[in-house]
Amino acid sequence: MIQPQPVKPFLEVLSGNRQSVPPVWMMRQAGRYLPEYRELRAKAGGFLDLCFNPEWAAEVTLQPIRRFGFDAAIIFSDILVVPHALGRSVRFEVGEGPRLDPLDTPEKIRTLATAADFSKLEPVYEALRRVRGELDPKVTLIGFCGAPWTVATYMVAGQGTPDQAPARLLAYREPEAFAKIIDVLVQNSVQYLLGQLAAGANVLQIFDTWAGILPPREFERWSIEPMRRIVEGVRAKVPDAKITGFPRGAGAQLPSYVERTGIDGVSIDWAAEPSLIRERVQNRVAVQGNLDPLALIAGGAALDRAVDDVLANYAGGRFIFNLGHGIQPETPIAHVEQMLKRVREYKG
Ligand code: CP3
Repeated sequence: MIQPQPVKPFLEVLSGNRQSVPPVWMMRQAGRYLPEYRELRAKAGGFLDLCFNPEWAAEVTLQPIRRFGFDAAIIFSDILVVPHALGRSVRFEVGEGPRLDPLDTPEKIRTLATAADFSKLEPVYEALRRVRGELDPKVTLIGFCGAPWTVATYMVAGQGTPDQAPARLLAYREPEAFAKIIDVLVQNSVQYLLGQLAAGANVLQIFDTWAGILPPREFERWSIEPMRRIVEGVRAKVPDAKITGFPRGAGAQLPSYVERTGIDGVSIDWAAEPSLIRERVQNRVAVQGNLDPLALIAGGAALDRAVDDVLANYAGGRFIFNLGHGIQPETPIAHVEQMLKRVREYKG
Protein backbone atom coordinates (compact mmCIF):
# COMPACT_ATOMS: atom_id res chain seq x y z
CA MET A 1 0.00 0.00 0.00
CA ILE A 2 1.27 3.49 -0.81
CA GLN A 3 1.73 5.56 2.33
CA PRO A 4 0.53 9.17 2.08
CA GLN A 5 3.52 11.55 2.12
CA PRO A 6 3.68 13.72 5.26
CA VAL A 7 3.23 17.40 4.40
CA LYS A 8 6.24 19.66 4.19
CA PRO A 9 5.37 22.92 6.00
CA PHE A 10 7.80 24.89 3.80
CA LEU A 11 6.13 23.67 0.58
CA GLU A 12 2.70 24.30 2.08
CA VAL A 13 3.57 27.97 2.48
CA LEU A 14 4.79 28.16 -1.12
CA SER A 15 1.50 26.59 -2.21
CA GLY A 16 -0.43 29.35 -0.47
CA ASN A 17 -1.16 27.72 2.90
CA ARG A 18 0.07 29.89 5.75
CA GLN A 19 1.46 27.89 8.71
CA SER A 20 0.65 29.06 12.25
CA VAL A 21 4.31 28.56 13.21
CA PRO A 22 6.40 29.71 10.24
CA PRO A 23 8.88 27.19 8.79
CA VAL A 24 12.52 28.25 9.37
CA TRP A 25 15.86 27.91 7.58
CA MET A 26 18.88 30.19 7.22
CA MET A 27 20.81 31.35 4.18
CA ARG A 28 24.32 29.81 4.39
CA GLN A 29 23.12 27.54 7.20
CA ALA A 30 25.92 25.06 6.40
CA GLY A 31 29.14 26.90 6.99
CA ARG A 32 31.94 28.26 9.08
CA TYR A 33 29.93 29.17 12.21
CA LEU A 34 29.57 25.38 12.79
CA PRO A 35 32.57 23.52 14.32
CA GLU A 36 31.51 20.29 12.57
CA TYR A 37 31.68 22.17 9.22
CA ARG A 38 35.11 23.62 9.97
CA GLU A 39 36.38 20.16 10.83
CA LEU A 40 35.24 18.58 7.56
CA ARG A 41 36.30 21.67 5.57
CA ALA A 42 39.86 21.29 6.93
CA LYS A 43 39.91 17.63 5.88
CA ALA A 44 38.55 18.37 2.40
CA GLY A 45 41.32 20.74 1.38
CA GLY A 46 39.86 23.08 -1.24
CA PHE A 47 36.33 24.47 -1.05
CA LEU A 48 35.39 23.04 -4.47
CA ASP A 49 36.76 19.64 -3.37
CA LEU A 50 34.19 19.76 -0.58
CA CYS A 51 31.40 20.82 -2.97
CA PHE A 52 32.22 18.05 -5.48
CA ASN A 53 32.55 15.17 -3.00
CA PRO A 54 28.97 13.80 -2.73
CA GLU A 55 29.56 12.13 0.63
CA TRP A 56 31.03 15.25 2.24
CA ALA A 57 28.61 17.66 0.54
CA ALA A 58 25.67 15.57 1.77
CA GLU A 59 27.12 15.42 5.29
CA VAL A 60 27.65 19.20 5.44
CA THR A 61 24.12 19.80 4.10
CA LEU A 62 22.68 17.63 6.89
CA GLN A 63 24.77 19.10 9.75
CA PRO A 64 22.53 22.12 10.46
CA ILE A 65 19.39 19.97 10.10
CA ARG A 66 20.59 17.54 12.75
CA ARG A 67 21.73 20.29 15.08
CA PHE A 68 18.77 22.68 14.77
CA GLY A 69 15.91 20.80 13.08
CA PHE A 70 15.38 23.39 10.34
CA ASP A 71 12.38 22.92 8.04
CA ALA A 72 14.55 23.03 4.92
CA ALA A 73 17.98 21.75 3.89
CA ILE A 74 19.82 23.63 1.13
CA ILE A 75 22.23 21.51 -0.86
CA PHE A 76 25.83 22.41 -0.11
CA SER A 77 27.41 23.85 -3.23
CA ASP A 78 28.09 27.31 -4.67
CA ILE A 79 26.72 29.54 -7.40
CA LEU A 80 30.13 29.50 -9.13
CA VAL A 81 29.95 25.78 -10.01
CA VAL A 82 28.10 26.83 -13.20
CA PRO A 83 31.02 28.93 -14.56
CA HIS A 84 33.26 26.03 -13.52
CA ALA A 85 31.15 23.64 -15.63
CA LEU A 86 31.34 26.17 -18.48
CA GLY A 87 35.10 25.68 -18.44
CA ARG A 88 36.05 28.91 -16.64
CA SER A 89 38.77 28.66 -14.04
CA VAL A 90 37.24 29.06 -10.55
CA ARG A 91 39.27 29.05 -7.34
CA PHE A 92 38.46 29.99 -3.76
CA GLU A 93 41.27 31.70 -1.88
CA VAL A 94 40.99 31.27 1.89
CA GLY A 95 39.96 34.54 3.48
CA GLU A 96 39.61 36.26 0.10
CA GLY A 97 36.67 34.67 -1.68
CA PRO A 98 36.34 33.50 -5.26
CA ARG A 99 38.88 34.08 -8.05
CA LEU A 100 38.05 33.51 -11.72
CA ASP A 101 39.76 34.38 -15.01
CA PRO A 102 38.14 37.74 -15.87
CA LEU A 103 35.77 37.62 -18.85
CA ASP A 104 35.84 41.32 -19.55
CA THR A 105 36.18 41.96 -23.30
CA PRO A 106 34.01 41.03 -26.32
CA GLU A 107 36.95 38.98 -27.66
CA LYS A 108 37.12 36.83 -24.54
CA ILE A 109 33.34 36.53 -24.41
CA ARG A 110 33.31 35.12 -27.95
CA THR A 111 35.32 32.16 -26.61
CA LEU A 112 32.79 31.36 -23.85
CA ALA A 113 31.37 27.84 -24.21
CA THR A 114 27.62 27.80 -24.90
CA ALA A 115 26.98 24.45 -23.19
CA ALA A 116 28.28 23.41 -19.79
CA ASP A 117 29.93 20.05 -19.18
CA PHE A 118 27.21 18.69 -16.92
CA SER A 119 29.29 15.68 -15.94
CA LYS A 120 31.19 18.15 -13.72
CA LEU A 121 27.94 18.80 -11.83
CA GLU A 122 27.04 15.13 -11.42
CA PRO A 123 28.51 15.11 -7.85
CA VAL A 124 25.96 17.81 -6.89
CA TYR A 125 23.13 15.61 -8.20
CA GLU A 126 24.56 12.64 -6.31
CA ALA A 127 24.75 14.70 -3.11
CA LEU A 128 21.09 15.71 -3.60
CA ARG A 129 20.04 12.04 -4.00
CA ARG A 130 21.93 11.11 -0.84
CA VAL A 131 20.48 13.96 1.21
CA ARG A 132 16.92 13.30 0.02
CA GLY A 133 17.40 9.65 0.99
CA GLU A 134 18.36 10.59 4.53
CA LEU A 135 16.10 13.56 5.22
CA ASP A 136 12.89 13.33 7.20
CA PRO A 137 10.05 13.59 4.63
CA LYS A 138 8.74 16.68 6.44
CA VAL A 139 11.94 18.56 5.60
CA THR A 140 12.11 20.35 2.24
CA LEU A 141 15.25 19.99 0.12
CA ILE A 142 16.29 23.18 -1.68
CA GLY A 143 18.35 23.12 -4.87
CA PHE A 144 19.82 26.40 -6.10
CA CYS A 145 21.84 28.37 -8.56
CA GLY A 146 22.94 31.97 -8.91
CA ALA A 147 20.92 34.36 -11.04
CA PRO A 148 22.63 35.17 -14.36
CA TRP A 149 23.34 38.79 -13.37
CA THR A 150 25.04 37.87 -10.08
CA VAL A 151 27.04 35.00 -11.59
CA ALA A 152 28.08 37.29 -14.47
CA THR A 153 29.37 39.94 -12.04
CA TYR A 154 31.92 37.41 -10.71
CA MET A 155 32.74 36.04 -14.19
CA VAL A 156 33.44 39.53 -15.57
CA ALA A 157 35.45 40.93 -12.64
CA GLY A 158 37.08 37.62 -11.78
CA GLN A 159 36.31 38.28 -8.12
CA GLY A 160 33.83 39.95 -5.79
CA THR A 161 34.04 43.75 -5.68
CA PRO A 162 32.21 46.25 -3.42
CA ASP A 163 29.93 47.53 -6.19
CA GLN A 164 30.42 45.08 -9.09
CA ALA A 165 31.55 48.01 -11.25
CA PRO A 166 33.33 45.87 -13.89
CA ALA A 167 30.11 44.05 -14.91
CA ARG A 168 28.02 47.23 -14.74
CA LEU A 169 30.49 49.04 -17.00
CA LEU A 170 30.71 46.17 -19.47
CA ALA A 171 26.90 45.97 -19.65
CA TYR A 172 26.78 49.68 -20.63
CA ARG A 173 29.72 49.58 -23.04
CA GLU A 174 29.21 46.21 -24.68
CA PRO A 175 25.56 45.25 -24.13
CA GLU A 176 25.54 42.61 -26.87
CA ALA A 177 28.62 40.82 -25.61
CA PHE A 178 27.32 41.03 -22.05
CA ALA A 179 23.94 39.67 -23.19
CA LYS A 180 25.75 36.62 -24.53
CA ILE A 181 27.06 35.81 -21.04
CA ILE A 182 23.55 36.24 -19.64
CA ASP A 183 22.00 34.03 -22.36
CA VAL A 184 24.54 31.27 -21.79
CA LEU A 185 23.83 31.42 -18.05
CA VAL A 186 20.05 31.37 -18.55
CA GLN A 187 20.17 28.26 -20.73
CA ASN A 188 22.65 26.34 -18.60
CA SER A 189 20.97 27.32 -15.34
CA VAL A 190 17.67 25.90 -16.63
CA GLN A 191 19.40 22.58 -17.38
CA TYR A 192 21.19 22.57 -14.06
CA LEU A 193 18.00 23.32 -12.12
CA LEU A 194 16.10 20.58 -13.98
CA GLY A 195 18.90 18.18 -13.07
CA GLN A 196 18.56 19.17 -9.42
CA LEU A 197 14.78 18.56 -9.50
CA ALA A 198 15.37 15.13 -11.06
CA ALA A 199 17.88 14.36 -8.29
CA GLY A 200 15.38 15.10 -5.53
CA ALA A 201 15.25 18.85 -4.90
CA ASN A 202 11.73 19.90 -3.82
CA VAL A 203 12.18 23.60 -4.52
CA LEU A 204 14.68 25.78 -6.38
CA GLN A 205 16.10 29.04 -5.03
CA ILE A 206 17.82 31.50 -7.35
CA PHE A 207 20.21 33.94 -5.66
CA ASP A 208 20.52 37.41 -7.21
CA THR A 209 22.73 38.87 -4.51
CA TRP A 210 23.77 41.86 -6.65
CA ALA A 211 20.34 42.74 -8.13
CA GLY A 212 19.89 45.83 -5.97
CA ILE A 213 22.89 47.66 -7.39
CA LEU A 214 21.20 48.09 -10.78
CA PRO A 215 19.19 51.17 -11.87
CA PRO A 216 15.58 50.36 -12.89
CA ARG A 217 16.17 49.91 -16.64
CA GLU A 218 19.16 47.60 -16.06
CA PHE A 219 17.34 45.78 -13.25
CA GLU A 220 14.58 45.03 -15.71
CA ARG A 221 16.95 43.78 -18.41
CA TRP A 222 19.62 41.94 -16.41
CA SER A 223 17.75 40.73 -13.33
CA ILE A 224 13.99 40.39 -14.01
CA GLU A 225 14.10 39.24 -17.64
CA PRO A 226 16.71 36.46 -17.23
CA MET A 227 14.91 35.27 -14.09
CA ARG A 228 11.59 35.21 -15.98
CA ARG A 229 13.21 33.11 -18.73
CA ILE A 230 14.66 30.67 -16.19
CA VAL A 231 11.25 30.21 -14.52
CA GLU A 232 9.63 29.72 -17.93
CA GLY A 233 12.34 27.29 -19.05
CA VAL A 234 12.10 25.13 -15.94
CA ARG A 235 8.28 25.10 -15.99
CA ALA A 236 8.26 24.15 -19.69
CA LYS A 237 9.59 20.77 -18.53
CA VAL A 238 8.26 20.63 -14.95
CA PRO A 239 5.05 22.71 -14.91
CA ASP A 240 4.54 22.55 -11.15
CA ALA A 241 8.17 23.34 -10.21
CA LYS A 242 8.34 25.53 -7.10
CA ILE A 243 10.80 28.40 -7.54
CA THR A 244 11.91 31.18 -5.19
CA GLY A 245 14.19 34.15 -5.79
CA PHE A 246 16.43 36.45 -3.77
CA PRO A 247 16.85 39.79 -5.56
CA ARG A 248 18.84 41.35 -2.73
CA GLY A 249 18.35 45.09 -2.41
CA ALA A 250 15.49 45.22 -4.95
CA GLY A 251 13.47 47.40 -2.56
CA ALA A 252 10.65 49.22 -4.34
CA GLN A 253 11.15 47.02 -7.42
CA LEU A 254 10.10 43.86 -5.56
CA PRO A 255 6.42 44.01 -6.60
CA SER A 256 7.28 44.08 -10.30
CA TYR A 257 9.99 41.44 -9.78
CA VAL A 258 7.53 38.92 -8.33
CA GLU A 259 4.81 39.78 -10.81
CA ARG A 260 7.00 39.59 -13.91
CA THR A 261 9.09 36.54 -13.01
CA GLY A 262 6.23 34.27 -11.92
CA ILE A 263 8.07 32.90 -8.87
CA ASP A 264 6.27 31.24 -5.94
CA GLY A 265 8.21 32.94 -3.17
CA VAL A 266 10.72 35.70 -2.63
CA SER A 267 13.49 36.24 -0.08
CA ILE A 268 13.72 39.78 1.24
CA ASP A 269 16.70 41.50 2.86
CA TRP A 270 16.50 43.25 6.24
CA ALA A 271 16.05 46.72 4.77
CA ALA A 272 12.72 45.80 3.12
CA GLU A 273 9.81 48.12 3.90
CA PRO A 274 7.13 46.08 5.75
CA SER A 275 3.96 47.73 4.42
CA LEU A 276 5.19 47.55 0.81
CA ILE A 277 6.02 43.87 1.29
CA ARG A 278 2.71 43.02 2.94
CA GLU A 279 0.50 44.96 0.55
CA ARG A 280 2.24 44.42 -2.78
CA VAL A 281 4.43 41.31 -2.44
CA GLN A 282 3.06 38.96 0.23
CA ASN A 283 -0.42 39.34 -1.28
CA ARG A 284 0.98 37.60 -4.40
CA VAL A 285 3.66 35.16 -3.23
CA ALA A 286 5.21 33.65 -0.10
CA VAL A 287 7.86 35.79 1.62
CA GLN A 288 11.09 34.51 3.24
CA GLY A 289 13.26 36.61 5.50
CA ASN A 290 14.52 38.89 6.89
CA LEU A 291 16.35 38.99 10.23
CA ASP A 292 19.49 41.14 10.11
CA PRO A 293 22.44 38.69 10.44
CA LEU A 294 24.11 41.26 12.71
CA ALA A 295 21.20 41.04 15.20
CA LEU A 296 21.93 37.31 15.27
CA ILE A 297 25.57 38.02 16.12
CA ALA A 298 24.53 40.54 18.80
CA GLY A 299 22.10 38.18 20.59
CA GLY A 300 20.39 39.11 23.86
CA ALA A 301 17.45 41.48 24.03
CA ALA A 302 18.35 43.05 20.67
CA LEU A 303 17.96 39.66 18.99
CA ASP A 304 14.62 38.96 20.70
CA ARG A 305 13.31 42.34 19.60
CA ALA A 306 14.53 41.85 16.01
CA VAL A 307 12.92 38.36 15.80
CA ASP A 308 9.66 39.74 17.21
CA ASP A 309 9.67 42.56 14.65
CA VAL A 310 10.10 40.13 11.75
CA LEU A 311 7.28 37.95 13.06
CA ALA A 312 5.00 40.93 13.71
CA ASN A 313 5.67 42.26 10.21
CA TYR A 314 5.17 39.11 8.18
CA ALA A 315 3.99 36.02 10.09
CA GLY A 316 0.35 37.01 9.62
CA GLY A 317 0.66 36.01 5.94
CA ARG A 318 2.41 33.32 3.90
CA PHE A 319 5.79 33.38 5.57
CA ILE A 320 9.03 31.43 5.98
CA PHE A 321 11.41 32.72 8.65
CA ASN A 322 14.99 33.31 7.46
CA LEU A 323 17.78 35.85 7.65
CA GLY A 324 17.98 38.86 5.32
CA HIS A 325 21.30 37.46 3.99
CA GLY A 326 23.77 34.71 4.92
CA ILE A 327 24.74 33.87 8.50
CA GLN A 328 28.21 35.21 9.33
CA PRO A 329 31.02 32.91 10.49
CA GLU A 330 31.39 34.63 13.89
CA THR A 331 27.73 34.00 14.90
CA PRO A 332 27.44 32.13 18.24
CA ILE A 333 25.48 28.88 17.99
CA ALA A 334 23.57 29.78 21.17
CA HIS A 335 22.11 32.78 19.34
CA VAL A 336 20.77 30.56 16.55
CA GLU A 337 19.12 28.42 19.25
CA GLN A 338 17.66 31.52 20.90
CA MET A 339 16.23 32.67 17.54
CA LEU A 340 14.72 29.26 16.77
CA LYS A 341 13.09 28.94 20.17
CA ARG A 342 11.48 32.34 19.81
CA VAL A 343 10.18 31.63 16.29
CA ARG A 344 8.76 28.26 17.31
CA GLU A 345 7.00 29.73 20.35
CA TYR A 346 5.21 32.18 18.06
CA LYS A 347 1.47 32.10 18.53
CA GLY A 348 -0.12 33.68 15.52
O1 CP3 B 1 24.33 26.56 3.38
C1 CP3 B 1 24.10 27.07 2.27
O2 CP3 B 1 23.50 28.15 2.14
C2 CP3 B 1 24.50 26.31 1.02
C3 CP3 B 1 25.74 26.67 0.45
C4 CP3 B 1 26.01 27.98 -0.26
C5 CP3 B 1 27.32 28.49 -0.35
N1 CP3 B 1 27.31 29.56 -1.19
C6 CP3 B 1 28.49 27.90 0.33
C7 CP3 B 1 29.70 28.71 0.52
C8 CP3 B 1 25.18 28.84 -1.00
C9 CP3 B 1 23.68 28.81 -1.19
C10 CP3 B 1 26.02 29.81 -1.60
C11 CP3 B 1 25.53 30.86 -2.51
C12 CP3 B 1 26.44 31.93 -2.95
N2 CP3 B 1 27.77 31.84 -3.24
C13 CP3 B 1 26.02 33.25 -3.25
C14 CP3 B 1 24.61 33.77 -3.19
C15 CP3 B 1 24.07 33.95 -1.81
C16 CP3 B 1 24.77 34.98 -0.97
O3 CP3 B 1 25.25 34.60 0.11
O4 CP3 B 1 24.82 36.13 -1.37
C17 CP3 B 1 27.17 33.97 -3.65
C18 CP3 B 1 27.20 35.43 -4.06
C19 CP3 B 1 28.27 33.05 -3.66
C20 CP3 B 1 29.68 33.31 -4.09
C21 CP3 B 1 30.63 33.11 -2.99
N3 CP3 B 1 30.96 31.86 -2.46
C22 CP3 B 1 31.39 34.07 -2.31
C23 CP3 B 1 31.33 35.56 -2.58
C24 CP3 B 1 32.16 33.40 -1.37
C25 CP3 B 1 33.20 34.00 -0.45
C26 CP3 B 1 32.59 34.70 0.70
C27 CP3 B 1 32.47 33.78 1.87
O5 CP3 B 1 31.39 33.74 2.49
O6 CP3 B 1 33.48 33.15 2.17
C28 CP3 B 1 31.85 32.01 -1.44
C29 CP3 B 1 32.42 30.93 -0.61
C30 CP3 B 1 31.46 30.04 0.11
N4 CP3 B 1 30.32 29.52 -0.41
C31 CP3 B 1 31.62 29.55 1.44
C32 CP3 B 1 30.52 28.73 1.70
C33 CP3 B 1 30.25 27.93 2.93
C34 CP3 B 1 32.80 29.83 2.36
C35 CP3 B 1 34.01 29.12 1.86
C36 CP3 B 1 34.67 28.20 2.85
O7 CP3 B 1 34.01 27.53 3.67
O8 CP3 B 1 35.89 28.14 2.78
